[in-house]
Amino acid sequence: MNIAIIGAGNVGGALGRSWAKAGHTIVYGVRDPQAEKTRALVAETAGGSTAVSVEAAARAADVVALATPWPATEAALRSAGDGALRGKILIDATNPLKFTPAVGLELALGFSDSGAENVARWAAGARVVKAFNTYGWENFADAAYPNAAGLRPVMFLAGDDAAAKGTVAGLAGEIGFEAFDAGALRAARELEPLALIWIRAAMSGERSANFTWARLRR
Ligand SMILES: NC(=O)c1ccc[n+]([C@@H]2O[C@H](COP(=O)([O-])OP(=O)(O)OC[C@H]3O[C@@H](n4cnc5c(N)ncnc54)[C@H](OP(=O)(O)O)[C@@H]3O)[C@@H](O)[C@H]2O)c1
Repeated sequence: MNIAIIGAGNVGGALGRSWAKAGHTIVYGVRDPQAEKTRALVAETAGGSTAVSVEAAARAADVVALATPWPATEAALRSAGDGALRGKILIDATNPLKFTPAVGLELALGFSDSGAENVARWAAGARVVKAFNTYGWENFADAAYPNAAGLRPVMFLAGDDAAAKGTVAGLAGEIGFEAFDAGALRAARELEPLALIWIRAAMSGERSANFTWARLRR
């Protein structure tokens, strides 16, 4: 599958390297394809990956993964060009975070809206699936699972298009995760706060970034 990644940073780079190892062709959509860090990432990504403009990457892909900082997300999607994402599966891994010294990290919106629903409005016609937002990127780089107890980490998904969710569930499964369908895209209103629980735990100093949620059946 041709996968475009918009936002070739921690999350985008980890997903790109992992999906390339799983046999997919990765095209990074970036602002500066010649930047040293982009060239290094392309060299580390297996399978003839490339870095091009956001617009060219979006056009070439079957699936587009979005991993930009929240304040840059609308501009990044607009730079894909009018209608470029129509009909495409758009994986939204962003979290609508804001930082204030008084509170620290918190969500910039919620309860009656979500980042993912904003993404769907900005990327007209895209088949948006919220995923890969509830853990740190380290877990996408090397999902060393199942663990000793045979558990696989869950990957929460939310989206309105069942076929798109099926494709994203497959992509999550290929890099170690068990998909957990949280419901329609509006369920991103619950998945985005869940990311903050993970972030606070990882930053508490007691835990590293190497932990995930799993479904323990009885
Ligand atoms: N960090 C995590 O572990 C984690 C986990 C889950 C979800 N998330 C969410 O995922 C998103 C990305 O996080 P990150 O840690 O990967 O961020 P990051 O390392 O800062 O990477 C962000 C990337 O976005 C690119 N970018 C910025 N504006 C752009 C634009 N207009 N068009 C194209 N690319 C643009 C930046 O490239 P330039 O070089 O051009 O600036 C950079 O490569 C955030 O929304 C975050 O909340 C993060």
